[in-house]
Formats: sequence, C-alpha cells, structure tokens
Amino acid sequence: MGSGPFATSFGLLDPSRILFLASTAWIRTLAKPMESPVFAIANQKGGVGKTTSAINLSAGLAARGIDTLLIDLDPQANATSGLGLEKEVGASAYGPLMGDGSLSDKIVESGRNHLFVIRSERDLVATEVELPRDEDYLLRLRGLLDALKEEYGFGAIILDCPPSSTVLSLNALAAADYLAVALQCEYLAMEGLGEILNLLKQIREGGVNPNLELAGILMTMFDIRTNLSQQVVSEVRAHFGDKIFSSIIPRNIRLTESPSFGQTIFEYEKSSSGALAYDKLSEEFISRFQLKAAAKE
Ligand SMILES: Nc1ncnc2c1ncn2[C@@H]1O[C@H](COP(=O)(O)OP(=O)(O)OP(=O)(O)O)[C@@H](O)[C@H]1O
Ligand SMILES: [Mg+2]
Repeated sequence: MGSGPFATSFGLLDPSRILFLASTAWIRTLAKPMESPVFAIANQKGGVGKTTSAINLSAGLAARGIDTLLIDLDPQANATSGLGLEKEVGASAYGPLMGDGSLSDKIVESGRNHLFVIRSERDLVATEVELPRDEDYLLRLRGLLDALKEEYGFGAIILDCPPSSTVLSLNALAAADYLAVALQCEYLAMEGLGEILNLLKQIREGGVNPNLELAGILMTMFDIRTNLSQQVVSEVRAHFGDKIFSSIIPRNIRLTESPSFGQTIFEYEKSSSGALAYDKLSEEFISRFQLKAAAKE
C-alpha cells in the first residue's frame, strides 16, 4: 500500500493523521490543578449527535485556548476514530476502571493544541459485566477523575457517553458536574428527553451524585427546511426556557463526512454551517461555565 489515503472500516483516512502517541509528552503542557469542570454529553437514545458534539465542542474549546480532555467512554470508539486516533488495546479507561493504573497514564495528545484524549477500545464493553461485581462500581470514574484533577488542571473535561443506561453512562453521570443532553430535532425527541431527565433526578436524589446539574439541552440536526425541527425546538423551549443552548446545531452533511477523514469540523470545513454552530456553542460554554483558558507560556 502506498502512502496516500487508504480505506479503513470507517472511511478514508490519511495515515499521516494517525498519531502514534508518546504517552507522557502532554504533561509538560498542562497547568497545575484548577477546577476542571466535567461535562457528560449523554442521551440514552442512539444516533442523536452525542459524539459529533463531544468531538467538535472539545475541538472548539481547545481552539479557544481551553485545555480540554475528551474521554471516549463508548466502546464503539467513534470519538477516537473521528479524531483520527488509533484504537489500541490497553489505551482506554478500562484498566483504571478495573483498578489497574490511573487515568493520567491513558491521556494522549490529539495532535491539536490544547486537546487531549483518553481513547476508547472494545475492551470497555467488559466493564458492563465486570464492574457491577463491586459495591462502589458507580463511583469508579468519579474516584479516578478526582485523582486526576489533583494532579493536573484542565479547563474542561468532556465525557462522550454510550447510548442507553450502561454502567459506563451511569459512571459518567456519577462523575460529572454537568449533564449536557444532545437532543435531535425530531418527533420522538421529547420522549428521550423525559427519560434522561428522569435519570438525572434518580442520580441526584438517589445520592449517587447530588451535585449533578443540567448544563443544558443541545438541539442537534436542526433541519431548516422542515417545520418539524422548528416545532420541536419551540416545544422544548416552552418547557425548558433558557436551559436550551442558544447555539442550535444544523443538519449539515459536512458533520457526517468529517469523522471518516479523522478530522474535526474545523479542520474539514471551517466555513460550514456545522463549524460555525459548534464554534458558537464553544463560545457559549466558555461564557456560561466560565471556562478558563490555559495560562500563556
Ligand atoms: N448536525 C448533524 N448533521 C448531519 N449529520 C449529523 C449531525 N450530527 C450527527 N450527525 C451524524 O449522525 C450520526 C449519529 O451521530 P453521532 O454518532 O454523533 O450520534 P451519537 O448520539 O453519538 O450516536 P451513538 O448513540 O451511537 O453513540 C453520525 O453519522 C453523524 O455523523
Ligand atoms: Mg456516540
């Protein structure tokens, strides 16, 4: 095979974009501990734009100078491959979740300034059966993140959650400061929203994470050509007011294409409507949650 782009199971990928990552190089570039707010991007419903949002929000924050750690908690590893990163046995949070090592050992540079990643791999699936054997299994990720935050400061930590209420999603909600719900602008959206908000209530009231706050509802795949999209946004807004992020993500084919090239939307097509929306969302996150840029060197 030549050195040009080659076909992989997830599309065309330029080999130069696959990063063979040195495991500790990132340490030098990080500030010392600060607050490190943790955002879980979740919805039990599949295919609603969680991963697309996790990738492009993280990239948008990083582009604005925020040291951002994206943790891919989905065994499908779509955030990992969508950033052009190699899936590798032993690279994910699986070991640390099972009591073997720390999260900081798993952090790699993404090849973009200020953007760091803990990749996913198929192994993570095993947590579904292995973790619940222990009593404190819902709090595993929280314990690991607490330890990480004592060592290093990030401006934001973003968790890309799998669909459905898996052990990994529950660990994410138990560990997060904020839940950001990705909600597709479609007819059944309200149903999914009810479910995730119920889960939020249970997590809070059951004592698993009393401090978990709803960061907001992110409307995705808004189709300007249909009344339906507008109706869904109006209905969600009527119920939740300013809990809806004012940045609404349009349906944009460039957002569908960019992960096959291992690129964020900003790398793939900076002037697309998707890039503009995720840039605006990043700005909104920074001002809403007062995220701090890394100190200049
Ligand atoms: N705004 C958008 N416009 C067009 N396509 C989009 C948009 N957002 C996401 N997609 C596409 O929709 C599909 C599902 O998106 P994504 O993988 O982000 O959802 P998800 O909620 O993470 O899915 P899963 O539940 O399987 O993890 C993908 O093919 C993605 O490229
Ligand atoms: Mg996903």
